[in-house]
Amino acid sequence: MILTLFIILAILLAYGFLLVALFYLLAGEFFGAPFVPTKRDYLPEIARKLKLKKGQRVYDLGSGNGRIIRFIAKNYPVEAFGIEVNPGLIMYSRLISRLEKIRSATFKRGNLFTEDVGKADVVFVFLLSKTLVKLKKKLLKECKKGTIIVSHGFKFQGMEIYLVDKIERKVFCTYYYRL
Ligand SMILES: C[S@@+](CC[C@H](N)C(=O)[O-])C[C@H]1O[C@@H](n2cnc3c(N)ncnc32)[C@H](O)[C@@H]1O
Repeated sequence: MILTLFIILAILLAYGFLLVALFYLLAGEFFGAPFVPTKRDYLPEIARKLKLKKGQRVYDLGSGNGRIIRFIAKNYPVEAFGIEVNPGLIMYSRLISRLEKIRSATFKRGNLFTEDVGKADVVFVFLLSKTLVKLKKKLLKECKKGTIIVSHGFKFQGMEIYLVDKIERKVFCTYYYRL
């Protein structure tokens, strides 16, 4: 009897764990984009074009495994912030950051739509077009004049007047906007 109860409890726990894991796996997809990291090979060129200056603040909205933020914080004298909805990816980003002894990178679990980006000098995004439609209004309202918005993979519709540069690729071009 006790063994049967124990087995039932174990099965319920395993199902619960799987459901939670599935939720977090799909959380990004549900909120604005699935987790697909920007290719490592693209990072140097994407960052070089920004001509980053000492003390600037760089945000990645939907920072995934923190790859871009870690790269930028390691190679440039800036403050880099990653905002990510998936707590597993935040834990991973913080862990790797610590192992790599990166001090100027901060990772925060949160919703990119509620994060204040008023102090950002650069905002990087790799999100679906439908998410960019919503995000455009927020960025135009909150960001200061001169902020650079980098959109990897998808264009911001209706922001053509701000487009200042582009990296052409067969798949996933990178677009640079200056507000
Ligand atoms: C395509 S991945 C890009 C990851 C990273 N920026 C990169 O380029 O390597 C998009 C990320 O955005 C996250 N995301 C989607 N919607 C979000 C939201 N509303 N708030 C915070 N993060 C979000 C997803 O969980 C996913 O990790």
